[in-house]
Amino acid sequence: MSKRTEPIPGTSDIFPEESILWQEIETAAQRVFSTYAYGELRTPIMERTDVFLRSIGDETDIVQKEMYTFTDRGGRSLTLRPEGTAGMIRALANRGIAQGEEKRVYYCGPMFRGERPAAGRKRQFHQIGVECVGRQAPEIDGENIAMLMHFLQEIGLRKLRLLLNSRGVAADREIISKALYAWFSQHIDSMCDDCRRRLETNVWRILDCKVDECREIIDRAPSITDLLTPESRDYFQHVCRTLDLLHIEYEIAPRLIRGLDYYVHTVFEVVYEGIGAQNSIAGGGRYEIGLPGLKEPVRGVGFAAGIERLLLSLAQEKKGETKPITVDLYLIALGEKAMQENFELADKLRRQGIRVLMTLESRGLKSQLRSANKSGAHYAVISGDTELEKGVAVCRDLQTSTQEEIPRETLATELIRRCSTP
Ligand code: HAM
Repeated sequence: MSKRTEPIPGTSDIFPEESILWQEIETAAQRVFSTYAYGELRTPIMERTDVFLRSIGDETDIVQKEMYTFTDRGGRSLTLRPEGTAGMIRALANRGIAQGEEKRVYYCGPMFRGERPAAGRKRQFHQIGVECVGRQAPEIDGENIAMLMHFLQEIGLRKLRLLLNSRGVAADREIISKALYAWFSQHIDSMCDDCRRRLETNVWRILDCKVDECREIIDRAPSITDLLTPESRDYFQHVCRTLDLLHIEYEIAPRLIRGLDYYVHTVFEVVYEGIGAQNSIAGGGRYEIGLPGLKEPVRGVGFAAGIERLLLSLAQEKKGETKPITVDLYLIALGEKAMQENFELADKLRRQGIRVLMTLESRGLKSQLRSANKSGAHYAVISGDTELEKGVAVCRDLQTSTQEEIPRETLATELIRRCSTP
């Protein structure tokens, strides 16, 4: 196949037999999220670059290396959204969030990050995410995590590990930063160049480094959870208690900080073992996001799951196999008159929700029967001049290869009945 017809590296075409699975996941999300009173918010996939710079954090990999940023013809710096939260907050803040008001929104769509493509790591990938904005309480965080687990179970995932931590708030930062600085300064000579830079610019970011040699040192670094102030620890314990109440299992991951800098207090990630190195299928947390033009940062909690990684996980559980598009009936016409009748019949049936294919060019019976068999239809309905004269159609059961005549005046009703009975 010519390279020129392939999608660019790190992006994919999603064909109808696969997109059926995407629709199932999206419908399940919609179903579950609506039971928690979330509504869909659709925002543009492009935003002004500063929407992301201010919220995600200057020192994160996303901002440093991965954003698709360009200058448009009007000289504005725009960026293809690398994640959904910042745009959601911009849109909600633009409408105005009254003091004490809570907004619950979900979203679904493509995100763009210039990462090195690998299994489960794309440059254009798709997220389903939610944001609960405006209020702060550990129970809200707990409910948010519960909703994520509910959604993942609803689509059929079982072998899930929920990792949980707290990053505390500004008051915790100084103590934790000092402890992290002291630890990493001792080991910095054996760490990567990025970590050396992060030691001076934002020592927290070292915790998110993926380089093997660095990970070995990071895994022995001081535990953030142990260094929290009593207030932050209390908040975290309340989150844990909410999850206990709902019998949701979790593991405390004391060095989990996640790849974005807007998080405060609760952070969480769901890992699915067995899909390779990119096994984080969903992640989120509580955040405070400051945007250009806003006096106060916006507070919220939310998460996003990557659809491509959900599909890889479902394939591991032998669920979610691709399905070809099929129909219920295939209408065969022998002659022009029969084709005209078929047009009317197909229209009537489709309006009743019956999935119909019909031959739209003049072909022989054998060739049309081949197409009927290929279409996955249960029945082929054959009409030619002889049948029309007799006032019947031949209904052939393609599974048993038996056939019978049906009078034309009851044909539509009879076909609807047959296709509606399982
Ligand atoms: P994130 O952890 O950067 O969080 O991304 C969430 C999910 O998107 C990941 O768990 C993964 O499934 C998927 N994902 C991320 N990058 C890629 C990639 N290159 N290829 C394929 N899948 C990917 C966020 O984006 C936050 N906005 C989540 C959030 C919402 N936090 C609060 N509210």
